[in-house]
Amino acid sequence: MSKIKTIGVLTSGGDAPGMNAAIRAVTRSGICNGFTVKGIYRGYEGLINGEVKTFTTEDVSGIITRGGTILKTARSKDFMTPEGKKKAFEVCKKEEIDALIVIGGNGSLTGAWEFGTEYDFPVIGIPCTIDNDLYGTDSTIGYDTTMNTIMECVDRIRDTANSHERIFFVEVMGRDAGFLAQNCAIACGAEAAIVPEETTDVDQLAEFMARGIRKSKKSCIVIVSESPKCGALYYADRVKKEFPNFDVRVSILGHLQRGGSPSAMDRVFASCMGVGAIRAIMQGQRNVMVGYRNDDVVYVPFSECIRTDKRFDKRLITVLNELSI
Ligand code: F6P
Repeated sequence: MSKIKTIGVLTSGGDAPGMNAAIRAVTRSGICNGFTVKGIYRGYEGLINGEVKTFTTEDVSGIITRGGTILKTARSKDFMTPEGKKKAFEVCKKEEIDALIVIGGNGSLTGAWEFGTEYDFPVIGIPCTIDNDLYGTDSTIGYDTTMNTIMECVDRIRDTANSHERIFFVEVMGRDAGFLAQNCAIACGAEAAIVPEETTDVDQLAEFMARGIRKSKKSCIVIVSESPKCGALYYADRVKKEFPNFDVRVSILGHLQRGGSPSAMDRVFASCMGVGAIRAIMQGQRNVMVGYRNDDVVYVPFSECIRTDKRFDKRLITVLNELSI
């Protein structure tokens, strides 16, 4: 039997639609199963500073529909230091928090793993990032909503691209992963996607132009993964130089991709994973991420999900290429 009585929950890193649904699920399932649930504000930063509040079921009423996170979030530099982790551990002791549930992406779960290991503290992770770049779960919370948001934006861009017969380079987020770009390109009927997983060995722009798409199409949409050096602006400049007769425009979608009410899918993922996190604590699990695979909740050791790269399915490139002729 687990001796855990009080569970702390925090959101960390970039916010993602569905974070609130996950907070709600953890809180309600925790209370339902006899735990005290404490909300920790501003991620690890708030943990270090003792920004803690005991949650009731009412505190999480009406939040399943809301984007962002009621707990606020932060990317904490302090928590990456031994002193920061020590302070966080002291706050856990003071607040009588016996286990932590961390809702966030790759960096946040790495912090969770380090903290859990160094302090022999039970920590459970819930994968929540628009990037979908965590191994061990088919989807991260937030990814589906963001794909839908991008799709809506690109559908609108297509109207103007068609009307003016232009090439649009649309830049989407994803950090250094191309899941959002590749899948959104398919969903939007885009002519091409430029993703980090392919840039090492081929010139994706040259390949795209060589396909002669411009000859048969009125407009072109190319979805480009964000990148400090070769994002949408880089490719647009190249086309302007190499093909000066083409009318080229750029649209960088930016943070509007992260906001908005979560999709039905993300609400379901968040609810199941939140309940799954409480189950994990009841079973005495620690240092695991709750994942969702083949319609089932699974538990993946942090060591595995942090160290393993999520596979980028290159067959999706063929799907896009064949359908964009
Ligand atoms: O990890 C989520 C994410 O939105 C990435 O796609 C993006 O690169 C990054 O966060 C942006 O972070 P910030 O909001 O701190 O600029």
